Amino acid sequence: MKDYINWAILAPGTIANSMAAAMNGAKKKLPQGKHVRTYAVASRNLERAQQFAAQYHFEKAYGSYEELLNDPEVDAVYIANPHAFHHDSVIQVLNAGKHVLCEKPAGCSIGQLEDMISMAQQKKLFFMEAMWTAFNPTVLEICKTIQEGKIGQLKHIDSRFCNRIPYDPKNRLYAPELAGGALLDLGIYNIYFSMMLTDFSPISSFSSNVRLLKGVDVWNSVNLTFENGVTSAFQSAADMPAGSDTHDAIIFGTDGFITVKNFFMTQYAELHIYKGESGNANRKAATIAVPFKTNGYEYELAHATECILQGKTESPVHTWQKSRNLCKIMDSLRESWNMKYPWES
Ligand SMILES: NC(=O)c1ccc[n+]([C@@H]2O[C@H](COP(=O)([O-])OP(=O)(O)OC[C@H]3O[C@@H](n4cnc5c(N)ncnc54)[C@H](OP(=O)(O)O)[C@@H]3O)[C@@H](O)[C@H]2O)c1
Repeated sequence: MKDYINWAILAPGTIANSMAAAMNGAKKKLPQGKHVRTYAVASRNLERAQQFAAQYHFEKAYGSYEELLNDPEVDAVYIANPHAFHHDSVIQVLNAGKHVLCEKPAGCSIGQLEDMISMAQQKKLFFMEAMWTAFNPTVLEICKTIQEGKIGQLKHIDSRFCNRIPYDPKNRLYAPELAGGALLDLGIYNIYFSMMLTDFSPISSFSSNVRLLKGVDVWNSVNLTFENGVTSAFQSAADMPAGSDTHDAIIFGTDGFITVKNFFMTQYAELHIYKGESGNANRKAATIAVPFKTNGYEYELAHATECILQGKTESPVHTWQKSRNLCKIMDSLRESWNMKYPWES
């Protein structure tokens, strides 16, 4: 039986570099001798594909996505173009008979996501949104720490994912035609992180503030309440002045709290326990830190590769239902802001 997957990358841009590095790292590191083959890369520009293939040791370089889809040797495709193109790319790749790992957000709306899931079901192929935080070993340790009751009862999650990016109408974060905005690019992580910590308790209500610029949210502040009573408050932004904690989170419980550096890609958190019945005095009780083996993308890649080799169509970890719940809350927030992408009006 085949013990490797011929991976291909569609759209070798910024994040594709990180995944390509992880693919190279995973060539030797997957369990049971199963492995990743860095097989092909396709760009709309042949020279870009060739340079990327040479840098990351891919065997084939294509100057169009169609050529990649027509290559019968390609088993699975990592889709890394801007989110506005995910729907059509996922449908085309599945239709060509190849498995899919698609960058987040897989769908810009629940309708798009449902199309992808239906196509994966119909074709009996693997499809997963590349939500790498779901597989981050430090985040998983944090979840375990909470489940073990080390901070008492979980009460509240506070997080920020705010970047300072100069305004440029061509930058995908500022471009409505590319499904721009802070929520779908950055806030998606704040939501998913909160969902993980609350063990995927459904969201019962939300409120928010937003600052829109030319049709996209450049700053948002969101409050979520989960059915289990836990609350989450977050900000995500494209044009925020950078600060020392603009990528961090604090998780509050009745007996203590956890501080998390770079929560969406964390390798470092601290557990603090309150001293006594009242007051804010606390002691650092533990460090929660699991360093990446490569760069953090290796875990979702290993999981997707294992799922494909085992004949699964859906990840048992980042399930389609979790993608749906994530997408639905982003749809609801955008609706409350009256923010529609050009193809939605
Ligand atoms: N998981 C993470 O940590 C992470 C981090 C960053 C981004 N992302 C996600 O990854 C996706 C890509 O983000 P990125 O920052 O890597 O994007 P990017 O560098 O702007 O673009 C990636 C590639 O998409 C194609 N592309 C770019 N602009 C296009 C346009 N206007 N029309 C058609 N194709 C275009 C190009 O591929 P060609 O070479 O084929 O022209 C480009 O190289 C987004 O959905 C984002 O949310 C994830």
